[in-house]
Amino acid sequence: MEDKTDGGSGDASENYWDSSNKGLAAQCLQTATAGVDCDKKRITIYPKEYAGTIREAKSNDDIENLIMMLENIRDKGQPRGLILDKTKVSVDSGLVSQEGGKTLGSGITSKIILVKDSQLGVMSAQKTIMLAQFHGDQIRAWVHLDNANLAPKLYSFEQNKGQVIMKMEVMEGQTLQSILDGELLQNSTDAVSLSICVLDGLLAAYERLREGNFTHGDIHSGNVMLEPQIKIKLFDFDMARKLLQDPTTNIIRIKNDLLEIIRIFCALYSGYDLDSRYKAENILKANNLKELNEMLRSDLSETQRQELFKILTMLIDCVSDPRQEGYGDTYEVSKYLREQYKIDNLKKQLAVMLFDKFQVKNEETWGMECEIESSNVWDDPDMDDFVKNVTDEDLKSLGVLVLE
Ligand SMILES: Nc1ncnc2c1ncn2[C@@H]1O[C@H](COP(=O)(O)OP(=O)(O)O)[C@@H](O)[C@H]1O
Ligand SMILES: [Mg+2]
Repeated sequence: MEDKTDGGSGDASENYWDSSNKGLAAQCLQTATAGVDCDKKRITIYPKEYAGTIREAKSNDDIENLIMMLENIRDKGQPRGLILDKTKVSVDSGLVSQEGGKTLGSGITSKIILVKDSQLGVMSAQKTIMLAQFHGDQIRAWVHLDNANLAPKLYSFEQNKGQVIMKMEVMEGQTLQSILDGELLQNSTDAVSLSICVLDGLLAAYERLREGNFTHGDIHSGNVMLEPQIKIKLFDFDMARKLLQDPTTNIIRIKNDLLEIIRIFCALYSGYDLDSRYKAENILKANNLKELNEMLRSDLSETQRQELFKILTMLIDCVSDPRQEGYGDTYEVSKYLREQYKIDNLKKQLAVMLFDKFQVKNEETWGMECEIESSNVWDDPDMDDFVKNVTDEDLKSLGVLVLE
């Protein structure tokens, strides 16, 4: 075997060492994995797609590195995967069946399928990504949010043939994207109620991540589930990262998360999603409310418009100046929402109005029975308030659940 370690480059690698090449090297490291040899002043770069694959040995270093890795696994008794909830996924997860390979959804990089653990009979949503795409913060941020019940429960994750397989709770409900695409928000009163509940939930998730020094990095309506009890779950942590030493990156990442929340809120409230996070920032910072006003759904009343501007301005103020104390802190906005609106009651009203629609959609999409506990909405100590707000029509639509 030829040793190509002295400046040679194979198909998969290139060598860079020169102070003028530092920038280039740094750039490469974002999309590649590197072996650094300080004695020989050499960095060998492999594209991340090579991670976890079998390839031809190009040098003695390659051989040594793999030996080291295998010995490390042996000595530390390192597992290939971990189960976080053994009531949902059995240790022998090789016995998982794919339940007809039902697809729950797909994104740019992955497909989420429904699988059944044949030992336990429990269904999971299984997401598979390439090892090259994997980042530890993905799991760290996920577990942090899932502990606060604001993300789908992560049941297990494992490494398998160059891929990382994650099993999680099957979420009920619909993504905000499908709600925006659908016809649920026919009148502005429902739209405003739903957007307030969603904003409250999104800010809770954002704040929880922020407390753990995480940003999500990919908040959009396709990555947020609205469960039938009008509860928000944020998912898809592929881009989630721990905040770094570098304050500039942190400032941008925090702001981007919040701008995406602003866009979702504005889209649900008014039918207009501000086109992009940059446009959102420009319009709101310039206080260009005239431009915004023209884009909003026509049935919004003047009071509803003013309220929208007020909340949007409060949100953008949280990230207007990187030097401000508590940059990115949205506590005041959440407080305002909770003081101004009876969010729990809004949720109950929305659940009653939207439940049927959710159930029909779920059955259509998943072809499986949907276990929604309608009684959750009703078994509530705060019932009196709720009844006052429910119209006769709402009650009629409930069928068997009519309250005397
Ligand atoms: N736990 C889950 N339960 C039900 N549906 C899910 C679940 N996770 C993902 N999905 C569906 O799959 C889609 C893609 O999932 P996501 O994790 O966002 O993948 P990607 O990283 O490719 O964007 C989601 O928009 C959603 O519709
Ligand atoms: Mg996604």
